Amino acid sequence: MKLEERTVAEYHGRPVKFFDLENGRRLRARLMNYGATLISLHIPDRTGRLEDITLGFDNFEDYLGNNPYFGATVGRYANRIGGARFVLGGQEYVLARNEGPNHLHGGLKGFDKVMWEAVPVSDSRSVGVRFNYLSPDGDEGYPGNLDCQVTYLLNENDELHLAYLATTDRPTHVNLSHHSYFNLAGSRKENILEHELQIMASRFTPADERLIPTGEIKEVAGTPLDFLKPRPIGQRLKELPAGYDHNFILDSRGELALAARVVEPESGRVMELYTTEPGLQFYSGNFLDGTIRGKGGRPCGRHSAFCLEPQHFPDSPNKPQFPSTVLKPGEIYKSLTVIKFLTV
Ligand code: GLA
Repeated sequence: MKLEERTVAEYHGRPVKFFDLENGRRLRARLMNYGATLISLHIPDRTGRLEDITLGFDNFEDYLGNNPYFGATVGRYANRIGGARFVLGGQEYVLARNEGPNHLHGGLKGFDKVMWEAVPVSDSRSVGVRFNYLSPDGDEGYPGNLDCQVTYLLNENDELHLAYLATTDRPTHVNLSHHSYFNLAGSRKENILEHELQIMASRFTPADERLIPTGEIKEVAGTPLDFLKPRPIGQRLKELPAGYDHNFILDSRGELALAARVVEPESGRVMELYTTEPGLQFYSGNFLDGTIRGKGGRPCGRHSAFCLEPQHFPDSPNKPQFPSTVLKPGEIYKSLTVIKFLTV
């Protein structure tokens, strides 16, 4: 187990820190307090070769530029809120509009763009960092002071734990998530189309052209969204000109359960994602078009990575039929995601 901390820059008078973790079995993760971000994750392939399997940047400054939420913590509300508004307790709240008329990933300055307090944490089996952020009443339009905590822990079972807690002093909406872009082939492959994906979801929430759910619930059976049995991401991608960017309704809800499994056949790398969340957004990197240059100056092309974002459903504040995202004073928002790495 190893944990090293260093200051790499200053942002609004505060030190930007990189935290390098190692789990004693060669897995390495780099975290940063800006955006409570996962910068890189090195895991072995079946021959033991270590490679970074996430998209991101080498330097802090690049995270301030054109950055599609690489490795970030997203909040207060991951995904979209239609019309950037909701009514809660009889009062209308108007949120920041940062995607046409809608609100995406917490607004103009979401949790991915703020400095979090960071404290290293470790025990005999794991090493990590606990991040805290107090989002003030009115932040991006949301009511209530929201006190948030995100803890990343890398353990000796080759698992990365992402644990979320939040409390508020006024009723509000909360939906926190993690936004890493994965390519399990490391630098070997330019796209993720041959990765085999399985998602434990029989249903999804259909959405309009701006990706706001219509409110319906449909079966994945017979559609390109059917990943109940593992199959290559690219197999039916052509049927979806805009690519995958869908919220799947996970079959098992409430308790920590396997939500998705991804196998990269050439390297043998496997990732399993377990979550307590009811939904999973599968995004196939459709908006990446090569203009962003990531680590090592490599352009990040279309489908060069995928995101699996455990979360509540998009636009829940305006969809009373969806699981609620309301948090009230005295309640504790809790969410846990575990990503386990192995090889075959
Ligand atoms: C999520 C969304 C996508 C896109 C990315 C960030 O995955 O669902 O539509 O906004 O974030 O580019």
